[in-house]
Amino acid sequence: MIPDEPTHAVVRTAVPGPASEALRARHGRYQDARTVHVYQDARKSRGNYLVDVDGNVLLDVYTHIACVPLGYNHPDLLKSWHDGRFDWAAGFRPALGVAPPPEYVDLVEHTLMRIAPAGMSHVVTVTTGTEAVENALKAAFIAFMRRRRGGAPPTPEDLAACLLNRQAGTAALKVVSFEGGFHGRTLGSLSATRSKPVHKLDFPAFDWPVVPFPASRFPLDAHADTNREAEARSLEAVEAALRAGDVAALIVEPIQGEGGDRHASADFFRALRRLTSEHGCAFIVDEVQTGGGATGRWWAHEAWGLAEPPDLVTFSKKMQIGGYYCREVFHPAEPYRIFNTFLGDPLRTAQLGVVVEVVERDGLLDRVQRSGARLLAGLHGLTARHPEVFSAPRGVGTFAAIDVCDASTRDRVLFAARQIGLEAGGSGDRSIRFRPALVLADRHVDECLDLLERAAVSLP
Ligand SMILES: Cc1ncc(COP(=O)(O)O)c(C=O)c1O
Repeated sequence: MIPDEPTHAVVRTAVPGPASEALRARHGRYQDARTVHVYQDARKSRGNYLVDVDGNVLLDVYTHIACVPLGYNHPDLLKSWHDGRFDWAAGFRPALGVAPPPEYVDLVEHTLMRIAPAGMSHVVTVTTGTEAVENALKAAFIAFMRRRRGGAPPTPEDLAACLLNRQAGTAALKVVSFEGGFHGRTLGSLSATRSKPVHKLDFPAFDWPVVPFPASRFPLDAHADTNREAEARSLEAVEAALRAGDVAALIVEPIQGEGGDRHASADFFRALRRLTSEHGCAFIVDEVQTGGGATGRWWAHEAWGLAEPPDLVTFSKKMQIGGYYCREVFHPAEPYRIFNTFLGDPLRTAQLGVVVEVVERDGLLDRVQRSGARLLAGLHGLTARHPEVFSAPRGVGTFAAIDVCDASTRDRVLFAARQIGLEAGGSGDRSIRFRPALVLADRHVDECLDLLERAAVSLP
């Protein structure tokens, strides 16, 4: 399907190898290069295989933290580039709120709105996931205050006070988020992020409520009662937080990604929707990591069967740009309330246009469901064969994970896997997460499972 895609992983050096380490030394003089796994040969990488500068060919089921929908150098993207389909976006980067090219309007209409979640009438584009969340929170505050003022315009006192950070009422406004949640690192979204101290230490934060996330235990049928109780406890805490008043929004990931691939049931999310509606609080579904097809649907929340859609849905990563979809009522009445210079990126949006065409043409969402089922079955097999190492295989589509007995073993398994050609990622304290491209096929799944098992059994 992807011409010239390698047939399997090939490792020639330690990973990272000497060429990567030399680049890290150079790079590290100017930027923090300590987090870099390898330096990638962007031209040679193909499909599901990342080729690094040492010539190692790694099967990549992490894909730049879940950001590469069609794998590397997909022929349709390269052809579009060579055929000049993106030329209109190549010569300058516009301020899209000032002088957008007509081609961009086509993309909003035919790409972004084509895959909009049901019930969403508007889309705001920005660049990253944290900006998506940041602006969705602002839209929720704007709608909340508009309602509180009964639709009346702000008073001159409000306008003067806001410049002094002393606007009546706003200091009390709150956003509810969940333990273990991750919503970004800028100062607004960071107050809703609860996954790890490293993200939050030393930064001033809003004093917003945090509630427990159910974090279903797996296998689900063996833990049905515990999971039901955890969901009930969480919903009680949500309701108490909403009853306290002044809550403009509740934000939740369909599956907590960074926090450790923690799940909850569709019933739980339906209850959240009901509670937020009852209390007049915006229901923000953060699909930055789950969105864009990885769960076998464009949007993970489509699996919940909501009677009423979410109020706002944030996205980034596989979508190539950041942004949020929202319902009409969250579209501000005045211009410039939600605004920045770039308001997205037309070149990346044009690339998304090709991605959407290929996903539809090649039936990639179905394929993700099939590959995901195979991956999950394989992870169950791995757990059965190595219960001392692995537990709790779980996933929706290819958005999958498995737990390892402890954090240090997890890190050693990931390191050992990379040495034999598998690039996977960690999440939470001791999970391994799979975030492959949508072009993952059976043979990649099998290779991934084989490499992971070999890595685990190779540990001293
Ligand atoms: C659910 C979720 N929200 C927000 C973000 C922040 O996105 P970004 O790193 O693009 O700012 C992430 C990033 O991992 C995420 O997983």
